Amino acid sequence: MSADKSPSLSVSVLNMDFTRLAESIKAVEEAGADFLHLDIMDGHFVDNISFGPDIVKAVSSVTSVPIHTHLMIENPEKFIERFFESGSDTVTLHVETLNSGNSSILRMNRIGVSLNPDIPVSRLEPYLEFSESVLVMSVFAGFGGQEFIPESLDRISELYRIRETRNYGFRISVDGGINPVTAAECVKAGADEVVAGSYISRAEDPAEALKKIRTALSG
Ligand code: DX5
Ligand code: ZN
Repeated sequence: MSADKSPSLSVSVLNMDFTRLAESIKAVEEAGADFLHLDIMDGHFVDNISFGPDIVKAVSSVTSVPIHTHLMIENPEKFIERFFESGSDTVTLHVETLNSGNSSILRMNRIGVSLNPDIPVSRLEPYLEFSESVLVMSVFAGFGGQEFIPESLDRISELYRIRETRNYGFRISVDGGINPVTAAECVKAGADEVVAGSYISRAEDPAEALKKIRTALSG
């Protein structure tokens, strides 16, 4: 992690009870979530459909926690502006959805890049120099509630080493299967931030679950 900052905790709303979304968001806000993580799935890039900009807008109207939007969609360039207009503070897209026609969007401010567990870190090479953040998927994108893939730790370390060696500025976030144990492992491997979904939203006491991850993050 960066020397000057303690690791951040972002909370994914994907597995929250959508009939009580505002309430659940308030609870994690009060418990000290640093960011909210909103997963956008289009049924093409991943085999699931979640929600779109209107829900992002609704979420942003009930919270002051900064919103990180994770686009698991094809042709992300078509929608980025709408997600910013809806209240996203940052938008992350997948390297798998980039091509020669749209990859320049990564040079925009407040854009991050993500990659699935089967994509070599080297695929990020052309972009790392100007990337603000890298979201390492520690499960295959598409669903909450999956188990952390242990090999992700090597990928975090690889990115950490690249950043150190070349003096790049991107933040390293990790998404999928985060609980207090995996959160601590990610930080040890070099992560600046973890994204936790079902460990918090499916807990009997989500605020307590969040605090357990927070404690694990601070070592
Ligand atoms: C998976 C999503 C993740 C997910 C995390 O496609 O990108 O953000 O919501 O949820 P958990 O913590 O349940 O793996
Ligand atoms: Zn996500």
